[in-house]
Amino acid sequence: MSLDGRIAGPGDDLSFLETVAGDGEDRDFDDFIAGIDALVVGSGTLRWLHGQGHDLPHRGLPIWLVSHDEALAARAAAADPDGTPVTRVEGELAEILDGIAAAGHARAWIGGGGDIAGQALAADRVDEVILTIAPTVLGAGPAVFDHPALEPRRFALAECREYGKGSVRLRWMRDRAQQATSFGR
Ligand SMILES: NC(=O)c1ccc[n+]([C@@H]2O[C@H](COP(=O)([O-])OP(=O)(O)OC[C@H]3O[C@@H](n4cnc5c(N)ncnc54)[C@H](OP(=O)(O)O)[C@@H]3O)[C@@H](O)[C@H]2O)c1
Repeated sequence: MSLDGRIAGPGDDLSFLETVAGDGEDRDFDDFIAGIDALVVGSGTLRWLHGQGHDLPHRGLPIWLVSHDEALAARAAAADPDGTPVTRVEGELAEILDGIAAAGHARAWIGGGGDIAGQALAADRVDEVILTIAPTVLGAGPAVFDHPALEPRRFALAECREYGKGSVRLRWMRDRAQQATSFGR
């Protein structure tokens, strides 16, 4: 995300990601993905990927596409029928995440966008947040948690380091114990 908490600029412009110089971070994504067993993604993010010539956000992990768009889901499901199952879901994020857990997936990556991440946080179903902050201010665009009515949520810092050259990696764990003392809930 940008310094001002946006995951894209106006018009779904992600060119700000070029300001992240990830030198020396080659294993970072591989290590992360090795600990994931499902991917949740919104249709806005998948449409952006299609516009960039990518048919799926990632291959080899079951994908839950949160969308009303059956044609979009059919296109994604056809992209890699042998290795990457795509399930279209809609409705309450908490129920969608319950369904993923019931299918046996313990660690789901909510890959975005801000709309989906915001709904998951509003339902208090985000346990860990991994952020890379780019050295850029965008001024407008979707927020990392893009939701109109979020309650305060307390997180505990688990990691804070320079990422590549000039960016920052932060990792936060949901702190439900501290939440009770800091916000009274
Ligand atoms: N910087 C980053 O790391 C990063 C990461 C991810 C995404 N992005 C960018 O963020 C932008 C997209 O983010 P976004 O927040 O606009 O979109 P998004 O979260 O990817 O998708 C939102 C869309 O998903 C569908 N949807 C949302 N909630 C739903 C629900 N409960 N049930 C059924 N369908 C639901 C709706 O579309 P339909 O009903 O029409 O399907 C909605 O418009 C893109 O520019 C993308 O490239 C950036």
